[in-house]
Amino acid sequence: MVELLPSILSSDFAHLADEVAAAERGGGTAIHVDVMDGHFVPNITLGPPVVKSLRKVTKLPLDCHLMIENPDNFIPAFADAGADWVSVHYEACRHLHRTLELIAQHGMQPGVVINPATEVSLLRPILGMVHHVLVMSVNPGFGGQKFIPYSLTKMRQLKELRQELGLSYRIEVDGGVAHDTIAAVVENGGELLVAGSAVFDGGHAEQNARKLLAAAQKAAELESWGVA
Ligand code: DX5
Ligand code: ZN
Repeated sequence: MVELLPSILSSDFAHLADEVAAAERGGGTAIHVDVMDGHFVPNITLGPPVVKSLRKVTKLPLDCHLMIENPDNFIPAFADAGADWVSVHYEACRHLHRTLELIAQHGMQPGVVINPATEVSLLRPILGMVHHVLVMSVNPGFGGQKFIPYSLTKMRQLKELRQELGLSYRIEVDGGVAHDTIAAVVENGGELLVAGSAVFDGGHAEQNARKLLAAAQKAAELESWGVA
């Protein structure tokens, strides 16, 4: 089933609660929270205190995408703040297996993220441990970038691997997901669709989310008929 995950990175932080509520009314089913440390990625955003505030204004799962070095040091704080899903980058974890275990031990759903230049096959040993695999379809750090088409191949590979290994992780996609790309993303196996600028740019988050989700659902329906 396809789901829309509005990414608050592109929202108006001065009106965060309203922005989240609008995205939720538009059909968003989890809120994507981009955490950046200025080291792993060339940008800085927010941390556990903002997650704690978000927790007070929505019941939707908070999907925390950690673009940080040494994520182990912050996992307890994200759990205390009320995060539901926590994903860490393959490229940022020296002991990825340990980090995923730590997330699960703190009662959160673990996810793993790969950058555009990282191969899907590297994840094989840990795929049984994750709730979701996040394919970055832009280089992480900023909203509003152009979708990288090769990420479609990675989604297909993850779908095939899931079948081959008998697993049930969800396939999440982040970066450049918008009206012109969302159908291709869904046709190639994307299920948890993160969208920042396509939802929040220019206001009207509710309408934007609704239109995007409708396009994704239409693509999913055509796909299920085998006519996409
Ligand atoms: C980028 C972030 C994304 C970002 C996507 O590093 O991980 O979640 O919000 O923004 P758009 O949808 O504008 O590409
Ligand atoms: Zn993200």
